[in-house]
Amino acid sequence: MIRIENVSFKHRTTPILTDVSLTIPKGGVVALIGPNGAGKSSLLSLVARLQALQTGTIDIDGLPVDTTPGRELARVIAILRQDTTVASRLKVRELVGFGRFPHGRGRLTEADHAIIDAAIAQFDLADLADRFIETLSGGQRQRALVAMAFAQGTDYLLLDEPLNNLDMYYARELMRSLRSAADGKGKTVVIVLHDINQASAHADRIVAMKGGRIVADGAPTEILTPEMLETVFGFRMRVETIEGKPFVLHQL
Ligand SMILES: Nc1ncnc2c1ncn2[C@@H]1O[C@H](COP(=O)(O)OP(=O)(O)O)[C@@H](O)[C@H]1O
Ligand SMILES: [Mg+2]
Repeated sequence: MIRIENVSFKHRTTPILTDVSLTIPKGGVVALIGPNGAGKSSLLSLVARLQALQTGTIDIDGLPVDTTPGRELARVIAILRQDTTVASRLKVRELVGFGRFPHGRGRLTEADHAIIDAAIAQFDLADLADRFIETLSGGQRQRALVAMAFAQGTDYLLLDEPLNNLDMYYARELMRSLRSAADGKGKTVVIVLHDINQASAHADRIVAMKGGRIVADGAPTEILTPEMLETVFGFRMRVETIEGKPFVLHQL
């Protein structure tokens, strides 16, 4: 379980997050949605301790993120940042292998290699495994980064806009991989999405943020209403139900 309690966060005097409380039980896919600047990335970076907590508490399976040693935390939670840049003179296989670092002392065991190979296969990277990152397309690079996060093998996975640069095929594949990791292995996935329909199709729960606060939280069928969407994004959208799931026609 991820427990976020009364978290507030400022850059100098500017409030970025205000009194955010959120409990995410173990197992399942939670989509974090909201307009640019809502505070989604800031919240994830506090959970993964990429930034230090200022006010409030966060713990993961009872481990307080502010005092747990980094290495221990990295065996429990992995994060794929929105703005990840990687050294380009690195091969795909080496990048994916970085996911195993918290588990050893830099030397990869046979078991590590098996996990790396599985992540490479899962994200369709076998043909690219020996290519340098700098020679990949944006979507191929994104898949390699997601594979690295998966290879970390943590129970909790935070993914900040992982669908960026992915074509429709790979976006769907990634969402299905996340769904099966949650259903089959009990993984807990928190994913920032701009594609609300991916959230509706694959997430158990949607948490909507705006202006540094949580403004809606519930199952897709409960919260994807024209009213909620207008409150969060500032314009009216049509919502249609297909196979029992709400789909948002935001292009109209
Ligand atoms: N290093 C920073 N210094 C000042 N303001 C920042 C910094 N990082 C983020 N912000 C501000 O914090 C707010 C939330 O940003 P962010 O968490 O990235 O939002 P989101 O991921 O929802 O788009 C934005 O208004 C952004 O401009
Ligand atoms: Mg962001």
